[in-house]
Amino acid sequence: MAGLVVAGGMGIVAVPYLFSGPATPGPLLWYLTRATAFAAYVTLTAAVALGMLRVVARRAGERLSWVVDELHQFISTLALLLVLAHLLSIFLDPFIPFTAANLLLPLDEPYRPLAVRLGVFAFYALVLVLASSWLRRRLRYGTWRALHYLGFVAFALATAHGVLAGSDAGEPWMRGMYVGAGSAIAFLTLARLLAGTPRAGGERIAQMSSRR
Ligand code: HEM
Repeated sequence: MAGLVVAGGMGIVAVPYLFSGPATPGPLLWYLTRATAFAAYVTLTAAVALGMLRVVARRAGERLSWVVDELHQFISTLALLLVLAHLLSIFLDPFIPFTAANLLLPLDEPYRPLAVRLGVFAFYALVLVLASSWLRRRLRYGTWRALHYLGFVAFALATAHGVLAGSDAGEPWMRGMYVGAGSAIAFLTLARLLAGTPRAGGERIAQMSSRR
């Protein structure tokens, strides 16, 4: 469903560009790049926060509805789709000529190279987290869990990327978003550390539920 909405929206924007030859620079794609960046960042933050809340609740002995798991997966997938929309918009915008290789490899970036490379690494981390979750029935629990920690790496890299690459990074509302997201994840990290180790049998329950 999320895929259909994002793919449909991007299709409406992309198809005219793909069939009308090289685009002329205009503000539409620039707005779209920033809008998808903002939406991807908020969604990524929500996915990481929900994942942490889930662990804190489990460690406190709460029984969680399957809806929480579904929502966590849905939001994480939506984050990836929005990042792909962010990349498509940058690719179509002729103002700064990004090639497909620039978008997918951390090499020869035509704009703020360090900042953009951080975005590429954030993208890799996000892809690994999602791919390992889709394949988790084939992975050992420890491997899946280790790869899942890359969600934090994706969040940290995306934050640094947004602050250093974004045209809106200096705007008060954008700064507020980075501070709000960083504070929420820092608070949940503390709550998670204070929640301690899983209760007896908790790890087993978590393993079973992660294999559902
Ligand atoms: C997890 C992956 C990513 C997330 C969450 C993300 C998010 C963001 C955010 C929040 C901004 C700031 C927008 C603004 O201030 O208006 C931004 C800007 C930007 N990102 Fe990404 N990004 C990701 C991956 C990438 C990748 C792989 C590239 C590769 C080229 C990229 C290229 C850019 C560029 C060029 C800008 C500057 C756009 C502008 O403000 O004019 N991003 N991104």
